Amino acid sequence: GFTQCSRRYIQTHSQRPNNLPLAFAFDIDGVLIRGEEALPAAKKAFSVLHGDNPLGVEIPFILLTNGGGVSEETRCQKLSAQLGFQIKPEQYIQAHTVLKNIVSKYVNQPVLVLGGKNDAVRKVAEGYGFKQVYNTLDVLAWKPSAWPFHDLTPEERASAKEVDFAQVPIAAVFVFHDPRDWALDIQIICDVIQSGGIIGGPHVPYLRRKPIDLVFCNPDLVWRSDFERPRLGQGAFKDAFQAVFKSLTGSTYPHVQFGKPTEATYAFAENVLQDQSQKLWGHRQFPSVYMIGDNPESDIAGANAARWKSILVHTGVYDPQMGPPSHKPTYEASDVAEAVNMALDQEL
Ligand code: G3P
Ligand code: MG
Repeated sequence: GFTQCSRRYIQTHSQRPNNLPLAFAFDIDGVLIRGEEALPAAKKAFSVLHGDNPLGVEIPFILLTNGGGVSEETRCQKLSAQLGFQIKPEQYIQAHTVLKNIVSKYVNQPVLVLGGKNDAVRKVAEGYGFKQVYNTLDVLAWKPSAWPFHDLTPEERASAKEVDFAQVPIAAVFVFHDPRDWALDIQIICDVIQSGGIIGGPHVPYLRRKPIDLVFCNPDLVWRSDFERPRLGQGAFKDAFQAVFKSLTGSTYPHVQFGKPTEATYAFAENVLQDQSQKLWGHRQFPSVYMIGDNPESDIAGANAARWKSILVHTGVYDPQMGPPSHKPTYEASDVAEAVNMALDQEL
């Protein structure tokens, strides 16, 4: 229910709904869904956002996830079905969406993309405008001895591109989503870096070799699926790669990190929220953004650094039994429905 203050807000503001005092940014895994299932609280929260609130108006929101692996359009179709409310691509940001802003630097260079199933991520990268996109299954199809412990499945072989990597100088490696075979992917990243881009080529001494850009899109050490305990995420894969690379070469490899809590991702999200507010209310200002998340390291840390309000829910990675969160949220709530009502009570 809504408190007395929200009724007062209606008397003083309802004639000017375009001065909405807030907008929301929702994390997905552990907040709205767990595995394939939407949490019941998510459906309650979305009905409030779509008008079942003291103002009786639509409240602007975006989804901001470190997930990915498919196109924004594909994920939005799936989320709309899971949540029972339409989620539009223009209000959805996933781990690698931000790469759309850096494609121009690599558009005509061969790049290696990691993560996801078969060639789903290749298709996403091509949809962003990358023109020469390869993956580690292509390398195995070219030379199975590149990693003798992974026999391509028929689907993997069918999805692979025919290419002679001895002629293809890889310029950059993008880890879009969670690799399915960490060992294969760590092996090939090390090959690309140590040989200055030519997989299987001679190792070039550090000071003489062409530097390869290495970009990770999701720093999550863990995330919450429908298993009882959090699962290792892309941040764990990054740690595994850096540990192996350090054993091989004596040092870790410099890389670029996107995804929550990085400033680049929150700046990108703020701009999307402004677009959303412009579309709904004809202006780009809203004083309070409420980020609702389950992971203190990504959702709360990033929102606090972006000077948004943050609400930590207890349905995902963070477990209140384990003591206080590593990053202090503005508020804590049991689930996303309580979090939305808490924010409206604060602002209306
Ligand atoms: O792979 C997805 C996971 O790392 C976190 O997803 O929605 O909780 O940011 P999300
Ligand atoms: Mg989450």
